[in-house]
Amino acid sequence: MSIAIYPGSFDPVTCGHLDIIRRSCKLFDTVIIAVLNNSAKNPLFSVDERIELIKKSITDLTNCKVMYFDGLLVDFAKQQSATAVIKGLRTISDFEYEYQMAQLNKKLNANIETLFMVTNANYSYISSSVVKEIASLGGDFSDLVPKEIYEDVRQKIEKGR
Ligand code: PNS
Repeated sequence: MSIAIYPGSFDPVTCGHLDIIRRSCKLFDTVIIAVLNNSAKNPLFSVDERIELIKKSITDLTNCKVMYFDGLLVDFAKQQSATAVIKGLRTISDFEYEYQMAQLNKKLNANIETLFMVTNANYSYISSSVVKEIASLGGDFSDLVPKEIYEDVRQKIEKGR
């Protein structure tokens, strides 16, 4: 049984994330979307809200689940009997950071493999940060997040204004 972890902050989940999730679900028996519970990052959405937004976006996927984690990613992966961590790569700058993370995670636990998946070109410019920026400035971000969560994101930003 192959289990992979797809970790991130997902504040909020974007179409780019969803593309990686869908493709990962074709490669592994189970994909665990692991939401980092780290208040130091000062997220817009609470960890429970981020989990709900992801769940709303993946209702058609049967081999994927969402969990939160804190502490080290490799420790969470081991607890879940996962053998791989999936990271999406959009740009060279993503690679530089992710390469360092992959090496560190390898040093911490040599049994967990990091797999890089190249983001679909249509989504390579999307990040949670740009979604929040466009939404807060009143721009159209409907193509950037899963349609199931568009209204939730819009309302949250509206409330915060
Ligand atoms: O979506 P993000 O914020 O780029 O995701 C970053 C994440 C959650 C993958 C990364 O911060 C992480 O793995 N944090 C857990 C702590 C850890 O294990 N750090 C790496 C060891 S140096």
